[in-house]
Order: sequence, then structure tokens, then C-alpha cells
Amino acid sequence: MSKNINNKLTKLIKYYSLINHNLIFSRNSINRYNKKDPIIQKDKTLNLQKLRDKISEIKNCKLKENASNLVFSDGNPNSKVMIIGEGPGANEDKEGFPFVGRAGQLLDKMLHAINLNRKNVYITNVVNYRPPENRKPTEKEVERYLPYLKKHIEIIKPKIILLLGSTAMNAILKNADVISKMRGKWHEIEINNLKIYSIISFHPAYLLRQPDQKKFSWIDLKMIREKLKKF
Ligand code: URA
Repeated sequence: MSKNINNKLTKLIKYYSLINHNLIFSRNSINRYNKKDPIIQKDKTLNLQKLRDKISEIKNCKLKENASNLVFSDGNPNSKVMIIGEGPGANEDKEGFPFVGRAGQLLDKMLHAINLNRKNVYITNVVNYRPPENRKPTEKEVERYLPYLKKHIEIIKPKIILLLGSTAMNAILKNADVISKMRGKWHEIEINNLKIYSIISFHPAYLLRQPDQKKFSWIDLKMIREKLKKF
């Protein structure tokens, strides 16, 4: 290459780098809603705080009256994966975070197996206060907290929702099916005008009691790992 052409090329490269040459050469559309956009991030944080405040203002609720703490969420609000459990247990009530007890430790191990952790998933529950004696939340309680859960999903905008156990499945899918029939397949759901892929799997507390069922939850986890490659 002659010295002249070399010089021209060097100048051109310098020019392109100054004007961000990727914008010229890239055939991809520009994502104007970049996840790292500080304004969108700020909105999300603000909206989550507003939602948390609203839940903390709930009145005449037996769950709240008996609980020590509001258990809102854990994890990364910008995650593609949102995990929904049933409701806080004793440990969660004490610490104020979901899935911190034995079931939570198992959940962490399950996530780790598909390279996920609390830095790249977002975790919440159907109800945000611990049901007394660790009972299941009643239908009425689930209905009362459902609008908050839907708002939570709307703010996070996950690509994938993992519903753990029958309470989460029944609340979101509005069905009375059994997990064993519903798990292991994708369901496209619409929440507050958002289309989201959801998958149902066994609750980790159930897996602690029935470890032979772990082989099925492994299948579900691998489906999530595969699906995530699309996003
Ligand atoms: N079980 C749940 O469903 N959620 C928790 O946060 C803890 C245990």
C-alpha cells in the first residue's frame, strides 16, 4: 500500500472513531430503549419504591398484622428472568427478603446450575407478608395482592417468568391445574399488556420434601437456559 493511501486510511479511521463509525457500518437498528439508559433506570427504581410504599400502606390485612416485615423482592430489577414464589416464611419475615431460608438456599443452587444468581434474576412472591403458621395464602388474600404483583411485573418487564408452585401458578394463570400437568412447557401470558413467556416448576420447598422430583425441575431449568439464548 502506498504511503499516500496509508495516510488517507489512518485519517479515515480516526474520523470514523470520532463520529462513532459503528453507527455507519452496523446494519442493526439502534436500541433507543437501552437497558442502561439512566432515565429508564431511574424510573424503574422510582416505580418500585412507589409500589413498595403502596403495599406498606395496605390496611385491614391479617397477613400484615401478623408479620414483622414487608418482603418485597430481591435481585436485579433489570433481569430478563423474574421468579415468583408463594409468600414469605419465618426467615424471610425476619430478614425482609424472599427465599432466604432452606428453600431459598435450594433455589440459589438450582439457579447456579444454569448460570443464574441473584445478580441476574429478580425474585418476589404472590403475597408480600408472611401467612401465619406458614399456611398457604387464602384465595381472598391472593386476589388482594394480585394487582400489586401485576404492577410489579409491569415495572420489571421480564422476558421470562418462572412460577414456583401452585399458588404462583394459580394466581397468574388463573387455573386450578396441578403442577405436574402444567410444568415443563412454555405458556405465553399477557400481563398489563405485556407479553411474557412463563414456565411453571416445582416449588423448592416441595423439592426439599420430594427430592426425587428434582429431575423434573432440572428439565424446566434447562428450558429456561435455552430460552434465554433468544434474548
Ligand atoms: N417460599 C416462598 O414461596 N417464598 C419465599 O420467599 C420463601 C419461601
